[in-house]
Amino acid sequence: MTRLRIGILIAVAAIALAALAVYSGVVDVAADVPHSALVYALIEGVKDRSIAVRTKDIRVPPLDDIKLIAEGAKHYDAMCVDCHLAPGVKQSDLRDGLYPQPPNLTEKINLGPAEMFWVVKHGVKMSAMPAWGKTHDEQSLWGIVAFLQRLPDLAPEQYHALVEQTGEAHRHDHHHSHDHDGEGKHHE
Ligand code: HEC
Repeated sequence: MTRLRIGILIAVAAIALAALAVYSGVVDVAADVPHSALVYALIEGVKDRSIAVRTKDIRVPPLDDIKLIAEGAKHYDAMCVDCHLAPGVKQSDLRDGLYPQPPNLTEKINLGPAEMFWVVKHGVKMSAMPAWGKTHDEQSLWGIVAFLQRLPDLAPEQYHALVEQTGEAHRHDHHHSHDHDGEGKHHE
């Protein structure tokens, strides 16, 4: 046998083994059974490199504008708390059932603002992390990132003060628009 033939045989055997593994159902997709250490490390490695390569050219805008931060706080409170907790919110049934478990974002995490922006915008495949960029513009996403920089340092009262700050302004805007009357008619 030539080396080429041996190579082809090994490749075919590997593919057959992989197909058998899939077909046998040996891989457990249950969210209440953790990955093996090896598979977990592999997935983490893939994720880290994927994000690192895709965030090289992201330019981070100034993130210390209080209006931007308060805007982000409002979004966070509406969209993220069930999965990522908040000051004074130490547990959630949704979060406890997820695998991978969403990190607790009231604690410092090991991501810079560019990486945070990317993850919030694009989400993470095969996890529960949604791609918020499908429904939010970049300004809103940077607001969320600006808020995330502050979150680990906030006491519950400070958190609520920030959320309320834009909450008020937001409600106000809607009060002044009176275009609710003819709503159904615009759909022709
Ligand atoms: C339905 C649950 C869910 C919601 C809602 C959610 N996330 Fe996530 N998020 C996740 C999961 C799960 C991960 C972990 C993904 C992974 O590592 O594979 C994650 C990861 C992240 C990370 C990366 C953390 C790290 O250390 O790698 C950031 C930042 C983040 N989410 C921000 C947000 C923000 C901001 C919102 C709201 C706008 C949000 N998430 C809403 C589930 C959620």
